Amino acid sequence: MARRRAGGHETAGNVQSERKKVQAAEEPLSVKQQQERRSCWTTVSFFGKILLLVLFVPPFLNYASLQREEQELRPRDAQLIDIGLGQKISLICKGQGEPVVMLDAPTGMSSDIWHHVQESVSQTTKVCAYDRVGLGFSRRALQNDTTGMEKVWRPSTTGRMVDDLHRLVKAAEIATPFILVGSELGALNGRFYTHIYDAQVSDLVLINPIPEDVFEEETWQQYWYTHLVPSLQMMQLSAATGVSRLLLILRLLEPSFIGDNVSGELLQRQKYLLSNPAHQSSAVDEHYFLNESASQVREISKFKLLSSRISLSVIVGDSFDEQLPAHLNQVFADVQRKCLKRVYPQAKLIHIQGADRHMISKNASSVSKHLLELVSKRQTKHAMRQ
Ligand SMILES: *[C@@H]1O[C@H](CO)[C@@H](O)[C@H](O)[C@H]1NC(C)=O
Ligand SMILES: *[C@@H]1O[C@H](CO)[C@@H](O)[C@H](O)[C@H]1NC(C)=O
Ligand SMILES: *[C@@H]1O[C@H](CO)[C@@H](O)[C@H](O)[C@H]1NC(C)=O
Ligand SMILES: *[C@@H]1O[C@H](CO)[C@@H](O)[C@H](O)[C@H]1NC(C)=O
Repeated sequence: MARRRAGGHETAGNVQSERKKVQAAEEPLSVKQQQERRSCWTTVSFFGKILLLVLFVPPFLNYASLQREEQELRPRDAQLIDIGLGQKISLICKGQGEPVVMLDAPTGMSSDIWHHVQESVSQTTKVCAYDRVGLGFSRRALQNDTTGMEKVWRPSTTGRMVDDLHRLVKAAEIATPFILVGSELGALNGRFYTHIYDAQVSDLVLINPIPEDVFEEETWQQYWYTHLVPSLQMMQLSAATGVSRLLLILRLLEPSFIGDNVSGELLQRQKYLLSNPAHQSSAVDEHYFLNESASQVREISKFKLLSSRISLSVIVGDSFDEQLPAHLNQVFADVQRKCLKRVYPQAKLIHIQGADRHMISKNASSVSKHLLELVSKRQTKHAMRQ
């Protein structure tokens, strides 16, 4: 519209231009030139406003929606546990009884991933899942919110997460010894925790554990740092600019991991987390520092051996991720087998046919079956002692 008006001014100007030729030579800026400049400015400012609208409205709407959704979508049975120094952790416990089962999620994931497992294990005992700092409904730690552990362990590494978990167990008064279950990064945390606080854990279950030596493999390092981490950084950028929300609305982006059989609320929560730059940024950090976490666990497990009192089982599938090229899965599987044999020759190995890293949601019943066996074994032992 502005452009058409500009054209109109020009024709009107042309009629008068002959008459004004002499004057124009004397005047520094003719009326025509002034008009042209003004209409040009109108056009620029019109398109400028549209650009601003396009750039700022989606992030603004996204932030407004996130504020509302944080209240609406917080799981009803989640408690916000103050673990000290202003840090609050979202913890969901279901069921009654002992031993308690503690669940630690895979790299960059919130406690929702455990939904099916938690439902079925809660039939026989108390089972708790939590969101690590910055993920899901746990607030991100401020720089000064920390215990001083950051001088020893960098943020978003296993050392820090284990410190948080230890404070959470105390603050939430979780009965010990408990069964500790961790997947991927959660398995690194589980190992670190159990090596240090061995009196608190009766059984350790590692699901699809990240072997500490895997980042020594060139191909794996390449995949992780030049493919996976950048793609997660794109997701973070897309969440921050409000693009993820648009894509979700247009159904060009779908929450993936949780499996087919989920409630509407769980699905809404996954969409909320996909649009939430704070959650996405913590997920990036956990992936980015995974090599550091692995190296911390290697040091700890050399320094302090696993107590022989603790039962250890490892659940693996056929591959790390069935979407990955076969050679990458092969590298991962080889390193995993060697590491486990060297560090935990006593481990009981459980294989789930056709499973990969998504087994917690896709093969939930196979995972729960093993956990229920462990619970029942402990409960029988306890009953016999009484
Ligand atoms: C932490 O930092 C924030 C902002 O920098 C400040 O407002 C707050 O008082 C600090 N808290 C503590 C306990 O030092
Ligand atoms: C789907 O979930 C419902 C309740 O959440 C459950 O009763 C049903 O068995 C599940 N179906 C499958 C195929 O897992
Ligand atoms: C982890 O990877 C980063 C980036 O490739 C590298 O700078 C860092 O030294 C590595 N840390 C360890 C402990 O290997
Ligand atoms: C595990 O899940 C995958 C993918 O859904 C499926 O193909 C496989 O049969 C499952 N394995 C078991 C033992 O249930």
